[in-house]
Amino acid sequence: MIDPLHPLLRKAYDPDRFAALGTEVLGDLKRHLEEAQARERSRSMPWVPPEEERKHWERRLAHPKGLPALLREVVDRSNGLQDPRYMGHQVAVPFPDGALVGLVTDLLNNGGAIYEMGPTNSAMEDVLMARIGKAMGLPDGSGGVMCHGGTLANLVALLAARRKRGSEGADAWVQGDDGKGAVLVSDQAHYCVDRAVRIMGWGAAGVGLVPTDGRHSMTRTGLDKAMEQMAAQGRRVVAVVGSACTTSSGAYDDLELTADFAEEHGLWFHVDGAHGAPAAFSSRYRHLVAGMDRADSIAMDFHKIMGVPALCTGLFYKRQDESFLPFTQAAEYLWSDAEDPEWWNFGKRTFECTKRMLSTRVAAVLEEYGAEVWGVLVDRLFGLGEELAGSIGRRRGQGWELAMVPQSNIVCFRLVPEEIAAGRHNAFTTALRQRHLEEGAHYVVQTRFNGAVWLRCTLMNPLTEPEDLEAMLDGFEVLAKEMLNQGWT
Ligand SMILES: Cc1ncc(COP(=O)(O)O)c(C=O)c1O
Repeated sequence: MIDPLHPLLRKAYDPDRFAALGTEVLGDLKRHLEEAQARERSRSMPWVPPEEERKHWERRLAHPKGLPALLREVVDRSNGLQDPRYMGHQVAVPFPDGALVGLVTDLLNNGGAIYEMGPTNSAMEDVLMARIGKAMGLPDGSGGVMCHGGTLANLVALLAARRKRGSEGADAWVQGDDGKGAVLVSDQAHYCVDRAVRIMGWGAAGVGLVPTDGRHSMTRTGLDKAMEQMAAQGRRVVAVVGSACTTSSGAYDDLELTADFAEEHGLWFHVDGAHGAPAAFSSRYRHLVAGMDRADSIAMDFHKIMGVPALCTGLFYKRQDESFLPFTQAAEYLWSDAEDPEWWNFGKRTFECTKRMLSTRVAAVLEEYGAEVWGVLVDRLFGLGEELAGSIGRRRGQGWELAMVPQSNIVCFRLVPEEIAAGRHNAFTTALRQRHLEEGAHYVVQTRFNGAVWLRCTLMNPLTEPEDLEAMLDGFEVLAKEMLNQGWT
């Protein structure tokens, strides 16, 4: 016995209603883009304390007003990444085309894990990973998989490393291991590498932190020292991870040096290029990733400086067949032979089972602009980093300080007027940033290294102009003066 189709379901699947809503929402988004690009909103970052925002949604969600109203409110209350004054975290300011791709792929919902769930998407993924790998300088026979985020890609790459290099005569995937494995990684690396090592059961001591130099890059001496320490602690190092670039300050490890080290010690060489691997597409900045082509695996986020909405990551392998190393599992409802390296059943190689139609998002960028656009983006965003550093340099006499010459679009700096006592620099910077956040015109974040707190910009919006950078610095100067007038010393 089955009920007739419920009116709610009839409404949900009605094509005419869908098209009418779509027209309305697209109109709203066009206006949002125009306002954001014209800097018409008073703020790019509508800062509201978490408890207040939660209360708002507690009240609001109890009184539904319809989808267009809800979406309008989400747009108004969200961070304005499309505003050129957005200089905050490392997520892409997506090409608006990506929203249209999302519209289509979310409706189709042909995600992985296996070919028959999403034939077009799976075939495109295989083609794109080989083609993009080649464009990055990887050799013939390279390829890989797309996945949901750099965090996951780094974990999966280290699982491959563990299986290939980790256990003498035993298969770590089948038998587990003695918990004594280790990975060497920069002391400035993203936390997800440490997380991956702990997930693999090697604990905190399984992470050999490699000391970095004044530019936040690993050195040969640092690598040797970390290797010796791991050996002294009875650890079996299986991999070394190069950061391209680091998260906090955007510093590139010397990947040639890291590759040499990996070869000498028979280690898996993984590059965490979540943020900065696209430098490979820029003739001006390609030198930063020299040696990346020697890596066994590379993680690169399409959703950072490649214009694609989150989450969308490429995990590249120098030898495509090694992408089957991380997992081998039976799943009779999906595939019949666990050992068969069927490229088309991506679930055999990804952490995820179901995943979104990621390859269409990447294909859309290539279809409209070609891989050239990634070099153009890198040049523009890294150029903005140089521009900001130059401007801070010109203001140096007024209390401005640059943490280091930036190598990418991540710039760390601070403004500490001479009236502020040495022991209060961190407290002043933290308070200044909080005031700036609450004022909200420009969205800037903060970080900490070597015990010092720094303001941090990631220049993600290619529509940002030098005048926006000047206005942001001017804004900090006004706030710092106010704080001094209020008695900060
Ligand atoms: C160097 C680096 N690795 C990994 C990650 C994590 O990537 P995701 O946020 O895509 O998981 C980040 C994020 O900022 C990063 O900068």
